[in-house]
Amino acid sequence: MQLTITKTAAELQKAIYARAAEGARIALVPTMGALHAGHVSLVELARSHADCVVMSIFVNPTQFGPNEDFDKYPRDLAADIKVAEQAGVDILYAPDAVDMYGEGIATKIDVGDIANELCGKTRPGHFNGVATVVTKLLLRALPNVAVFGEKDYQQLCVIRQVVDDLDIPVEILGAPTLRETDGLAMSSRNRYLSADERKNAAKLYEILRLLAQRLANGHDVEKTLAEGQSLLKYAGFRMDYLTLCDANTLTPLPIFEAPARLLAAGFLGTTRLIDNVAVE
Ligand code: PAJ
Repeated sequence: MQLTITKTAAELQKAIYARAAEGARIALVPTMGALHAGHVSLVELARSHADCVVMSIFVNPTQFGPNEDFDKYPRDLAADIKVAEQAGVDILYAPDAVDMYGEGIATKIDVGDIANELCGKTRPGHFNGVATVVTKLLLRALPNVAVFGEKDYQQLCVIRQVVDDLDIPVEILGAPTLRETDGLAMSSRNRYLSADERKNAAKLYEILRLLAQRLANGHDVEKTLAEGQSLLKYAGFRMDYLTLCDANTLTPLPIFEAPARLLAAGFLGTTRLIDNVAVE
């Protein structure tokens, strides 16, 4: 099927309703573009759950803080269209800020505790911006399923919370993190890393896996996390957090208890990297 490119909510809805009227199951994959193999893996998962895959590309201003990379965030719609086409996306939705927000919106979604911990602490308002735009996307597309990456584990939990709290009729699927051969989680922001930083970047995942193994083997949580902080510092990271959390609520776990997730964020130079692993 040929890729249909839409730029406005009205065009998007026309394209989706035509497919839905034929009985097609619809999947939505929200992105900010700068597409890489990680995004493509989301499309593949979406495809296995639906007949029609819709991808959105929108660099959402409301989820960037004043000192973050909104202006320099990579934007190349022509290249993204090629990737989306190759990946088998059926409908692409690439709105501008006017189509998304008009003159601005008064209603914002405030998700609460799960949005204020971990990345929410250093990025105040970030997850509320994500929750608001994702809710708008879900209500515009009304998909049967929507796919989000475990790479942004807190984001996935925040979206599950919103969908659950507001009774949005969609199934949320989490997709495993796609990694480079050395283990670095693929990310549009990896291109900000210098050659030296890029070499060290893979240590984040390596150390997270080591720590997860120790935690699963019953090592003391506080001690293991302190060791992890030292190892990451030695690898060149300026850490933001390294926390063992309940995998659903993201409440910190002083003692290991499944289901658990080990989450980390840290800077290499000026680039902020995040990653996480299951502890089982
Ligand atoms: P973006 O960073 O473009 O990511 C789009 C989706 O791709 C997210 O669900 C993210 O978790 C997933 N993703 C990114 N890298 C991945 C990887 N290496 N493996 C698997 N999945 C990966 O996340 C956003 O955009 C925005 O916050 C958005 C949800 C679109 C709202 O604006």
